[in-house]
Amino acid sequence: MYKALIDKLERESALSKKEFLTLIENRDKCREYLTKRAFEVRNKVFGNTVYIRGLIEISNYCKNDCFYCGIRRSNRNVERYRLSPEEIISCADEGFKLGFRTFVLQGGEDSYYTDELLCSVITEIKKRYPDCAITLSLGERTYKSYKTLKEAGADRYLLRHETANFEHYSRLHPKEMDFFTRLKCIADLKSMGYQVGVGFMVGSPFQTLEDLADEMLFLMQIKPQMVGIGPFISHRDTPFKNFENGSAELTTFMLSLIRLTLPNVLLPATTALGTIDGDGREKGILAGANVLMPNLSPSFAKKNYLLYDNKICTGDEAAQCIECLKNRIKKTGCEITVSRGDYKDEL
Ligand code: 5AD
Ligand code: FES
Repeated sequence: MYKALIDKLERESALSKKEFLTLIENRDKCREYLTKRAFEVRNKVFGNTVYIRGLIEISNYCKNDCFYCGIRRSNRNVERYRLSPEEIISCADEGFKLGFRTFVLQGGEDSYYTDELLCSVITEIKKRYPDCAITLSLGERTYKSYKTLKEAGADRYLLRHETANFEHYSRLHPKEMDFFTRLKCIADLKSMGYQVGVGFMVGSPFQTLEDLADEMLFLMQIKPQMVGIGPFISHRDTPFKNFENGSAELTTFMLSLIRLTLPNVLLPATTALGTIDGDGREKGILAGANVLMPNLSPSFAKKNYLLYDNKICTGDEAAQCIECLKNRIKKTGCEITVSRGDYKDEL
């Protein structure tokens, strides 16, 4: 019965909420088959390649106070930093030499980074590396700001919705943060021609398996080009410090469901997955993920961009991480490729 549902999902890229929930609830009985199908679809669409994105954590200042996040504004124990335009560009220089063709500028919501400043950084990176893609992950901004950054050369934008459930959203965030503002931002980004990434945490406080089934329907509706998911991992200085962590097991199961629902999607095996389970990223690839996002930030940034406890790769050189990842990925039968790795619509 589960096998028939999985075959149906592969065939139709869709299931009902009840059908998704049945699979999620009975995942122990169908994990093996689902993982195999998802890995096969992944290989059919992308061959044995894994794309890499160079992550540059430009600022850990944030005006928001999300209950789960280690760099929330109320956390006084964070040593705050900002990268200058020169520092950001020099991370891109290093990344290019290491074979990266996508740079992800990620940061807290920090008004220091005006459109003007960001445009100058984007323009300079594009001038030096016209064949590279620029992805932004800088939270909620205005329509006009997204538009200006797009015109300066930004190609993609990551903005996780965190949960597709309006009530759940309000239990993860303070009341000044609004689910519908988030959705509006995502719609704005899509309308401007960004390749858009959404995403959610697996096992976040108060999340139910039914919520996870709803996540699948949300993805069917939004049809994003990228989906970032990882387990929730508690951070000691947040209101959620005593909540249980999400699991690698459920996260990889969700990765596989996503692969079958959105066969072409760019799907990272995240650092959070590698943190909760030493082999998490390899397991993610074997479950259908096809992107890795090693960290190019300078070491003082890495040490202070801690969204959750025990984050991995905060002391390692980017070159070291690449070597390490190459070896890990080899074991899955896949290999890292040097290319922009754009979303392609047709199979
Ligand atoms: N555990 C796991 N993921 C987290 N994020 C933020 N805090 C945590 C945490 N404690 C995720 C959010 C955010 C992304 C940058 O990191 O989903 O969108
Ligand atoms: Fe960073 Fe393995 S990927 S040390």
